[in-house]
Amino acid sequence: MSMEITNVCEYEEIAKQKLPKMIYDYYASGAEDQWTLKENRNAFSRILFRPRILIDVSNIDMTTTVLGFNISMPIMIAPTAMQKMAHPEGEYATARAASAANTIMTLSSWATSSVEEVASTGPGVRFFQLYVYKDRDVVRQLVKRAERAGFKAIVLTVDTPRLGRREADIKNRFTLPPFLTLKNFEDLDLGKMERTNDSGLASYVASQVDRSLSWKDVKWLQTITSLPIIVKGVMTAEDTRLAIQAGVAGIVVSNHGARQLDYVPATINCLEEVVKAARGQVPVFLDGGIRRGTDVFKALALGASGVFIGRPVVFALAADGEAGVRKVLQMLRDELELTMALSGCTSLKEITRNHIVTETEMPRTLSRL
Ligand SMILES: Cc1cc2nc3c(=O)[nH]c(=O)nc-3n(C[C@H](O)[C@H](O)[C@H](O)COP(=O)(O)O)c2cc1C
Repeated sequence: MSMEITNVCEYEEIAKQKLPKMIYDYYASGAEDQWTLKENRNAFSRILFRPRILIDVSNIDMTTTVLGFNISMPIMIAPTAMQKMAHPEGEYATARAASAANTIMTLSSWATSSVEEVASTGPGVRFFQLYVYKDRDVVRQLVKRAERAGFKAIVLTVDTPRLGRREADIKNRFTLPPFLTLKNFEDLDLGKMERTNDSGLASYVASQVDRSLSWKDVKWLQTITSLPIIVKGVMTAEDTRLAIQAGVAGIVVSNHGARQLDYVPATINCLEEVVKAARGQVPVFLDGGIRRGTDVFKALALGASGVFIGRPVVFALAADGEAGVRKVLQMLRDELELTMALSGCTSLKEITRNHIVTETEMPRTLSRL
């Protein structure tokens, strides 16, 4: 019996049935108690709408510009590692689905397809997510390859000096299946992951990723590339100001899908602080828990220039490959359009802070929701 998929979340159950437990758990997990994992979702349900009525919504424009690139909607694809564990076409399928939807894909450093392979799938605006290895020659080479392959920005992940404790991965002794490699690192002899007495990924990170990474390395990165740098993993006003001083081109408010430090707030609850501190100097994006068009609208109302989605992509890939990812993007797009229509907004710039109300602003009866 096949059942029609009517929302993004439904792919998770299918993925769970199809994938080996070790792989499903790796995709689904958060860190430790997974409090932040739940909170990334729950926080959206504490933001309600203040819709405006009797506005002509017969034409709705969802197009926007990110770092000067025109895209069809403010919904983009976050970097998620090792997509060929979900589907044989992995990152190729994601890249094709993103270009078909005319939006941006971010390729993970730890992809199971290389920057060159992903570029060869055809045209499309793509960003490259960077983990900084201790061996800076590795980083230099990788950034050059991403540039040459036509990637348009470096998304520097700044929340991962060490890997968060994902207990399912520890219990499962998670490791990359032997028929796959971290393709970008294959020729550097860093493409394989050992099976260890721990999460194999946590051990890999401990041995390769540079824990000493600091703001001066953001400066260093600017000396080895002319691509714009977006920092991913900012949660506070303090770091927003430092990021702008360091000359970044954009900021992603992210808690790494709740996979790093547990008990940080939901990203949607950190967004406004970061947006205020950025004072319009750089665009601020958000990821974490986006599963509905209403979530996208709420993020935009709080000042985000766009959002990124992580798990919905890997679950849809597992369930239905490229078609699944296309459908995820289409469903979120349709939901955002409907949310805009029902709120009285015909373009993204018409979405304002007054279209929503957050918990602390609600009358007491409502805040007990
Ligand atoms: C399975 C998985 C793998 C991820 N791999 C990476 C990665 O390689 N690099 C990175 O910067 N973030 C990575 N992330 C974090 C995502 O980019 C993003 O911040 C997060 O998934 C957004 O939350 P969401 O999954 O609720 O949409 C990963 C997340 C998941 C779920």
